[in-house]
Amino acid sequence: MNAQPHVRLRNVTKRFGSAIAVNDVSFDVAQSSFTTLLGPSGCGKTTILRMVAGFYRPDAGDIFLRDVRVTDIPPHRRNTAMVFQEYALFPHMNVAENVGYGLRMRRVPSPEAGPRIAQVLELVGLSGHELKFPHQLSGGQQQRVALARALVVEPEVLLLDEPLSNLDAKLRVRVRTEIRQLQQQLRKTALYVTHDQEEALAISDRIAVMDRGRILQSGTPLEIYHRPANRFVADFVGLANFVDARVVAAGRVEARGVTLAITDGAPSGPVTLLLRPEAIRLHRQPPAHAANVLGGRIAAASFLGTLARYWVDVNGMRWTIDVPSPGDQLLSGEVFVEIPPDRIHILKE
Ligand SMILES: Nc1ncnc2c1ncn2[C@@H]1O[C@H](COP(=O)(O)OP(=O)(O)OP(=O)(O)O)[C@@H](O)[C@H]1O
Ligand SMILES: [Mg+2]
Repeated sequence: MNAQPHVRLRNVTKRFGSAIAVNDVSFDVAQSSFTTLLGPSGCGKTTILRMVAGFYRPDAGDIFLRDVRVTDIPPHRRNTAMVFQEYALFPHMNVAENVGYGLRMRRVPSPEAGPRIAQVLELVGLSGHELKFPHQLSGGQQQRVALARALVVEPEVLLLDEPLSNLDAKLRVRVRTEIRQLQQQLRKTALYVTHDQEEALAISDRIAVMDRGRILQSGTPLEIYHRPANRFVADFVGLANFVDARVVAAGRVEARGVTLAITDGAPSGPVTLLLRPEAIRLHRQPPAHAANVLGGRIAAASFLGTLARYWVDVNGMRWTIDVPSPGDQLLSGEVFVEIPPDRIHILKE
């Protein structure tokens, strides 16, 4: 990866009437990286993508592609290409015509356009489908046509707005893997939008978590998951148990009369602890030589194949606890709950 960011937003704000869709956002997308904007519906993801593409002009702030300020440059002169959520294929054009549309708009002569169309169709695994119309293709194939149509103009930056939302669960996983492989193979810079946290964790180099027009945290998937900056990020990415506690000494917190050992440093006073469901262990018998063991009672259980998810009442709280590889015996009744000290994360905010 190059040190200079490929896409840079600086204090970008976009309003629609009196509503602020994007509120003073600054962030960088590294060259050849796959960066994802993740957040709930209406938080401003599409608006950011459209501003990078040039379809919307920011009310304040600036956008740069490398060192070029593009804020006032129209979309077709930015060298970006966008894949829209609804594919937006032309129903009356066949696959080759759909893919070649951007080349015709750019007046690329057909002797040059033909081989380029064939090449991207090969890349997305659709060679041989040139003459089909969109209604003759599956959802996943249409999605790949939309991707080919963006790639054929050889954009420097690929903008993808929830491109998988119309696919079923299995196909989503397959196509997202294909998109990621293609991006790595072509070393394109990609800015991807999703509200699906698992998808974001699975394919991104970096994730920017958004809420109400702002970016709350940006980091690698591991940083976002294990060291969320605040409660919103912790809750939006993965499942979270939150525990109100108080730091009473170095390496010790107290929560509802129980003292727990921690390794995360924090100044004394009230804090919120984050316990991920898979970070907590369940035992039938009290484990020997373990720190932070509490009695609990299983209130509900759910078998999910690769894991069992339990809702356990512990000291007046109800925690979600995941046990990997449960086999064919689920736990019930009284249990012992172990929280390894290094798996307790203290939310700083
Ligand atoms: N053209 C528009 N006119 C008026 N308001 C708009 C327009 N586009 C977006 N908004 C508003 O701006 C906010 C951000 O919208 P945006 O489409 O960027 O959200 P999003 O994060 O992409 O959501 P989703 O996940 O539902 O697609 C929303 O409150 C939306 O209603
Ligand atoms: Mg959107």
